[in-house]
Amino acid sequence: MEKLLINPNEKKAVINKDIYGHFSEHLGRCIYEGLYVGEDSIIPNVNGMRKDAVKALKEMGIPVLRWPGGCFADEYHWKDGIGDKKNRKKMINTHWGGVVEDNSFGTHEFFELCRQLGCDAYVNGNVGSGTVQELSEWVEYITFDGVSPMAELRAKNGSKAPWNLKYIGVGNESWGCGGNMDPEHYGNLFKQYNTYCRDYKAGEHILRIACGPNNDDYHWTKKVTDKVKHHADALSLHYYTVPTGKWHHKGSATDFDKNEYISTIFKAYRMEELISNHIAMMDSIAPWKKMKLIVDEWGTWYDVEPGTNPGFLYQQNTMRDAIVAAFTLNIFNKHADRLMMCNLAQTVNVLQAVLLTDGKKLVKTPTYYVFKMFKEHQNNTLLGSYLTTEKLTSKNDNNGEFPQLIESASVDENGVVYSTVANASPGKTSYIKCQLADSRVKSVKAEILTAQCNDYNDFGKDEKVFTKEFTDFKQTRDGFTAKIPPCSVVKFVVER
Ligand code: AHR
Repeated sequence: MEKLLINPNEKKAVINKDIYGHFSEHLGRCIYEGLYVGEDSIIPNVNGMRKDAVKALKEMGIPVLRWPGGCFADEYHWKDGIGDKKNRKKMINTHWGGVVEDNSFGTHEFFELCRQLGCDAYVNGNVGSGTVQELSEWVEYITFDGVSPMAELRAKNGSKAPWNLKYIGVGNESWGCGGNMDPEHYGNLFKQYNTYCRDYKAGEHILRIACGPNNDDYHWTKKVTDKVKHHADALSLHYYTVPTGKWHHKGSATDFDKNEYISTIFKAYRMEELISNHIAMMDSIAPWKKMKLIVDEWGTWYDVEPGTNPGFLYQQNTMRDAIVAAFTLNIFNKHADRLMMCNLAQTVNVLQAVLLTDGKKLVKTPTYYVFKMFKEHQNNTLLGSYLTTEKLTSKNDNNGEFPQLIESASVDENGVVYSTVANASPGKTSYIKCQLADSRVKSVKAEILTAQCNDYNDFGKDEKVFTKEFTDFKQTRDGFTAKIPPCSVVKFVVER
């Protein structure tokens, strides 16, 4: 029997709701088809945004959305995406399939989408091929409420009132697709671009995101932190889970054996080490710990579905992805003190998407259900919690080990405790005894997501993976005992 101890007296940090954020790039069918179909589409929409996607994302709890890229951000010139749609300049989306981008989804459409979703906006600026003036004017266009050239242009294009911009990213992957820079050069450019991103609204500061490392590039973190430590609010880490570890053959989204399954979770669990080490590196350079870490691209990355455009990064999503999501979100919760935002790549039809679409049809993926299960953690306070667990061994990774079970716990303003437990084992049930310190438990309710590791939801078929009420537990005086099935995610809601 494993032991889970939750200490409601040990209040650690508020879990920033933005840790549950998402990312939408002009890539494949994420924006076009997935979120935006245009006002004249036969797919039901409001101002061009597909109704079913907006409804599903709201129900899941989407706190913040990143846009317009990714690699696309450093080729995007925002003025091409405003004004009369008939006259908008077309461009080639060189990164993603070489398709024509007609710029019909631009700044006004993005803020309309955020309005419909009720979420905050994170805009990623162009440093790789843009100019300081271009980024400076974009911020003015979005946020300035007064008489100015950009505010007048915005009003002329139909939006008299400015929008709220919570985060601005200064470049994306500047070590790679965003300009192949070295960290010293990027650090200097960050300071230059950032200087002219003004805070126009009295008392409101747009949070500044500096391009951070890829995976375990601690050198980048060190050098960039040193340059931007007095200017940036956060540094962004990118880490993708690639089952085989090989970019030319990443592995199939649905067709995998037990070893590849275990290896995928092993690789996803690396997020723990990466967050801890990058924060330690940042703190060694800027020990006042003001600068936060964000992870604005994470998730699984497989070979594209057979027969689809290789540049569109379309992949299915199984119960394995749900375990990756539950492991990762529990890790994020545990780092609530230093994580400001995280963004799963990418919302619809791309990589580890929460939604998939096919014409009028829409599918909620297993990953969608994990985000929905975890949504109460948003803005809750993280509690000290401790779980004993066996280890799983990954043959494909030199017998590297990782915990079979992972959890986190938080408390809301009414004292209700939420605990989310994931069991990664493909075959082994876990028995846990949970105790809440100094607590007399009134009621326990629970929900479960479980299936075969390679089960998924598909168009035109009954859903195979979805949440159900979980009853395989017994309430005790100060907690509960429970039987956690293999390949499952369970949420306990405890009233005291
Ligand atoms: O999410 C897909 C791509 O992955 C993004 O455009 C880029 O930033 C990263 O390399």
